[in-house]
Amino acid sequence: MLFKSATAASVLGLCALSSSASLPHKRSTESGISLYVYGTDSSGGGPNGSPIFYADGLAYVGSTTPSWATVATNITFSLDPDSTTTAWTISPNSTNVSFNSTKSMYIVPTTGGFTQVGFSSSNGTLPTGAVTSGLTFFGTNVAYAANASNYELLFWAAATNTSGLYALYWNAAASNGNMVNGSFPVTVKTTPPVVLTA
Ligand SMILES: *[C@@H]1O[C@H](CO)[C@@H](O)[C@H](O)[C@H]1NC(C)=O
Ligand SMILES: *[C@@H]1O[C@H](CO)[C@@H](O)[C@H](O)[C@H]1NC(C)=O
Ligand SMILES: *[C@@H]1O[C@H](CO)[C@@H](O)[C@H](O)[C@H]1NC(C)=O
Ligand SMILES: *[C@@H]1O[C@H](CO)[C@@H](O)[C@H](O)[C@H]1NC(C)=O
Ligand SMILES: *[C@@H]1O[C@H](CO)[C@@H](O)[C@H](O)[C@H]1NC(C)=O
Ligand SMILES: *[C@@H]1O[C@H](CO)[C@@H](O)[C@H](O)[C@H]1NC(C)=O
Ligand SMILES: *[C@@H]1O[C@H](CO)[C@@H](O)[C@H](O)[C@H]1NC(C)=O
Ligand SMILES: *[C@@H]1O[C@H](CO)[C@@H](O)[C@H](O)[C@H]1NC(C)=O
Repeated sequence: MLFKSATAASVLGLCALSSSASLPHKRSTESGISLYVYGTDSSGGGPNGSPIFYADGLAYVGSTTPSWATVATNITFSLDPDSTTTAWTISPNSTNVSFNSTKSMYIVPTTGGFTQVGFSSSNGTLPTGAVTSGLTFFGTNVAYAANASNYELLFWAAATNTSGLYALYWNAAASNGNMVNGSFPVTVKTTPPVVLTA
């Protein structure tokens, strides 16, 4: 189970003196988690529940693998669903690819920005304003906890020069002029798409 409610956390606090055997275990980092992106543009195109993947340091989603990328790989995430301060690190979901350093997902929440989500191995290589902490869940959606009282759900997607390939963005209240034309809001979830059988 991924999600813990605030209620469960406070119950845990109240029960701190009772037998440890009866306490719910505090969850920590979970690995092997896939994140799926849902949403469509005005003509019905979209990532359709495909997983976020890595291509040359940036986050993409869709049915096509970019032929122009030097390194493109499906990824899984390691994250702590109870923490808003722990970075979400990624691992290649393929034995053919290895990252030479631990990479964390970042967003750029600077107000007015419309910036592609990416992955970085150190603070030194992050784009200006990027953060790797604050990623969390709001229900089943991946959110950004700007602070304890403000969870934001501002993932957007935009078509790329490759059919079926979308870049994943964070839309920090960008004006139209700063947004990629044809971009559209999406949600990011741990829930895989339902496979319909005939
Ligand atoms: C990762 O690989 C496993 C096993 O092949 C597969 O079940 C899962 O869907 C993959 N996840 C992603 C995000 O590619
Ligand atoms: C991710 O996995 C899917 C399904 O196995 C595959 O079709 C796709 O090419 C993979 N993407 C990348 C970037 O390796
Ligand atoms: C890994 O490499 C092998 C050999 O080149 C190839 O057959 C296979 O499709 C690759 N797997 C992925 C997930 O790219
Ligand atoms: C490690 O990754 C960086 C950035 O992708 C790249 O410039 C560098 O050549 C890589 N080093 C090795 C040993 O693969
Ligand atoms: C990046 O910065 C954050 C917050 O300032 C810090 O917690 C984290 O340890 C830093 N990470 C690295 C790799 O320096
Ligand atoms: C939380 O963040 C929002 C957006 O950044 C800000 O408007 C609000 O003042 C913050 N609230 C607190 C209590 O810091
Ligand atoms: C498509 O976009 C990628 C990423 O921005 C770029 O590296 C590549 O050169 C572009 N390809 C074409 C044909 O424009
Ligand atoms: C979006 O399209 C409009 C009209 O074609 C153009 O004026 C604007 O510069 C475009 N914006 C971007 C970010 O490409």
